[in-house]
Amino acid sequence: MSIFRTKNLDQMLADGRKPGGLKKVLGPFDLIMMGIGAIVGTGIFVLTGTGALKAGPALPLAFVVAALACGFAAMCYAEFASTVPVAGSIYTYSYATLGELVAWMIGWDLLLEYGLATSAVAVGWSGYFQHLIGGIGLHVPVELSAAPGALPGVKTYFNLPAMVIMLFITAMLSWGVRESTRVNGIMVVIKIAVVVLFIATGAGHVDTANWQPFMPFGMGGVMSAAAIVFFAFIGFDAVTSAAEEVKNPSRDLPIGIIGSLVICTILYVIVSAIMTGIVPFREFAGALDHPVALALTKAKQDWFAGFVSLGAILGMTTVILVMSYGQTRIIFAMSRDGLLPKRLSSIHPRFGTPFLCTWIVGIVFGLIGSVVPLDVLAELINIGTLAAFCLVSIAVIVLRRKRPDLHRAFRCPGVPVVPALAIAFCVALMAFLTTTTWIAFGIWLAIGLAVYFGYARHNSELNKTAGGMPAASAAAVK
Ligand code: ALA
Repeated sequence: MSIFRTKNLDQMLADGRKPGGLKKVLGPFDLIMMGIGAIVGTGIFVLTGTGALKAGPALPLAFVVAALACGFAAMCYAEFASTVPVAGSIYTYSYATLGELVAWMIGWDLLLEYGLATSAVAVGWSGYFQHLIGGIGLHVPVELSAAPGALPGVKTYFNLPAMVIMLFITAMLSWGVRESTRVNGIMVVIKIAVVVLFIATGAGHVDTANWQPFMPFGMGGVMSAAAIVFFAFIGFDAVTSAAEEVKNPSRDLPIGIIGSLVICTILYVIVSAIMTGIVPFREFAGALDHPVALALTKAKQDWFAGFVSLGAILGMTTVILVMSYGQTRIIFAMSRDGLLPKRLSSIHPRFGTPFLCTWIVGIVFGLIGSVVPLDVLAELINIGTLAAFCLVSIAVIVLRRKRPDLHRAFRCPGVPVVPALAIAFCVALMAFLTTTTWIAFGIWLAIGLAVYFGYARHNSELNKTAGGMPAASAAAVK
């Protein structure tokens, strides 16, 4: 029972093509929309304020640094997704290259990233939602408005709106992926319209004096901001988890991944430049939960602030939708491999979706979002994601060596330099996260190791078939 055994790639590709699996309904446009759906949300609508306090007017530069880390990693993701278009994203890729233990740990890491991201964004959604309905005189009872301890001096027990939005999205996802992407598409169009309107309205109110001095806290400040606003890019990787439901995955997945990342980077850089051009950056300290609205108030565009709240709500809804989707598909893949209980990969006969898994994910992470105050979660989610990006970059180099023969519809340019750059950028960003985050991440990984040796290793499908083999001998597999 080697911890380095790998899945047979050719077998995996054949499994993915078997009839009776997930329905193949998605095209390149759906994927770009899905990517933008997962990317534009809390990061740009909320975390830009915190980022501005750390980087000053150099905030757009922080977005560029984070985008570079993501861009290099996206090339690696795109190569893998076009070569091995099966559900499970980086978990599946590492199972074929780096061995079972690494694959398990990365799958475990992704459960943290996607799961907690949905919880965190559901809490952000709840905040904006309550702000918006407050404007028309409606209020959620205060006890049910936030997690215990979330509001100092106020008795709160449960974040009801966060739970409700999670259950609503779970219902949509369990009903059908085609229907979910349609709803996603409509919401993405509205949130992009809000962002573009912000750019059009705000550009005329920029005072270039606010951009001086450009880098008040030096490159260190820019890097700390980049480590936070990195959260704004998380999600493009969720596109790869749709691989088995894409009509022409080799062509469409790279388009979806890189297309959505490029569009979002351009929007972020412009939006953050305008925000820091309108508001002297220190003033964001007073509006950390609604920095975009603050910029509009400064620009005397109060009428537009309500639209921004609506855009933020829709933006966060699609983030939860796509992240929950990615989460269920990774659990689906891990369960199909025997590393998690088999029932989690059963497919609903009528809806063609992993119904049970979808509902478990919705309820568990809805509850986490409802009862846990989530102020440090962005960092924890970031460290998990950065670790995943490092692994996908390593896996690309390994697979090029082991299986040079495989057809790669998209080839990451400049291997091994580009994957090495991805690793260097990700490690640099991780270094700017707090010690507490590192400790919490370490604890999560330790629990993962215990579950692997206590359950997954013995129940792995590779124990039952001849398909698995030590990584060292995998090079010989054709
Ligand atoms: N990128 C996503 C957001 O900013 C997670 O909400």
